[in-house]
Amino acid sequence: MRKLSIIIVLFTALAFLLTGTLPAEEAAKKEAEKEDKKEATHEYVGAKKCKGCHKDVHAAWLETEHATTFGKLSAEEQKKPECVTCHITGKLADGTVIENVECEACHGPGKDFKSPKIMNKKKWAADPEKQKKLALEAGLIMPDEKDCVRCHTKEGNTNFKEFKFAERKGEVHAVKAKEEAKEEAKEEAKEEAKEEAKEEAGK
Ligand code: HEC
Ligand code: HEC
Ligand code: HEC
Ligand code: HEC
Repeated sequence: MRKLSIIIVLFTALAFLLTGTLPAEEAAKKEAEKEDKKEATHEYVGAKKCKGCHKDVHAAWLETEHATTFGKLSAEEQKKPECVTCHITGKLADGTVIENVECEACHGPGKDFKSPKIMNKKKWAADPEKQKKLALEAGLIMPDEKDCVRCHTKEGNTNFKEFKFAERKGEVHAVKAKEEAKEEAKEEAKEEAKEEAKEEAGK
């Protein structure tokens, strides 16, 4: 009898520890679930439809593991819903599964926001903020941490690795990061040239 009550006390303490220390993760998951419901009103189109206008981003994304991750599942695992959820993007209107973690896994189903009425360079050149607002209203997601931890979570993820959003977000398609690095390198080269010129003049 005593043994049993000790076990119950321990069990309750453990449950408290487990649920009590993870409120942030819980909240993020609830948010993500809400987002999922919103997505249901838009259709997926597949990354090829984005490629035409976003060549650089598409090329950079192709180099990441996201672009080929479905192939890491065995033929058996590719049939298991408990594995597939995080290694695919969604389904096209005709039911075809979009394999791998494509653009729309992070940016939301794109049929409405990719419209040339919205994502149109000429039309909105003078007012990019308006363009972005319309895109967001049509379902575009500019992903933050909660959109990643839907998959980068311990639950169900047998290969979980610790995930730090701020450190990883630049890697998803490194176009911007590369441009920034190029700019920085240019600035540094300029500074160095200046320093050298000063030294030369001082001689
Ligand atoms: C008809 C061409 C076209 C297609 C197709 C297209 N985009 Fe865009 N997209 C643009 C243009 C133009 C912009 C404005 C910024 C720029 O000049 O790159 C943009 C901007 C964006 C932005 C930045 C936020 C914003 O609205 O400014 C994201 C994210 C984006 N597109 C994702 C996608 C995804 C995902 C797809 C595929 C589902 C897609 N786009 C398809 C042309 C397109
Ligand atoms: C909740 C989402 C989720 C589920 C469910 C999931 N995975 Fe993953 N999987 C991931 C993520 C995210 C990664 C990348 C590792 C990380 O950062 O956690 C990954 C990585 C992998 C890798 C690559 C590991 C490596 O080190 O290269 C394999 C293989 C894999 N998962 C197989 C599976 C199998 C098999 C199942 C079903 C039993 C499964 N996954 C279920 C999210 C998930
Ligand atoms: C794993 C998630 C993920 C995938 C997959 C992904 N993106 Fe992104 N994308 C992001 C994040 C995160 C940002 C940065 C958001 C911010 O700065 O607030 C971003 C930003 C962008 C931007 C704005 C310009 C920039 O580089 O910051 C465009 C355009 C874009 N994505 C298009 C695409 C297209 C097209 C694809 C598919 C070829 C794609 N994305 C795939 C997460 C993703
Ligand atoms: C639909 C599920 C899903 C979403 C959403 C998702 N990821 Fe992933 N991510 C994965 C899986 C699965 C892998 C494992 C890829 C592999 O190794 O096969 C992974 C791997 C990665 C890697 C390692 C890739 C590499 O090339 O080394 C980074 C970095 C990453 N994710 C960042 C992010 C960020 C940042 C976001 C949110 C903006 C995000 N992911 C959203 C499923 C997802």
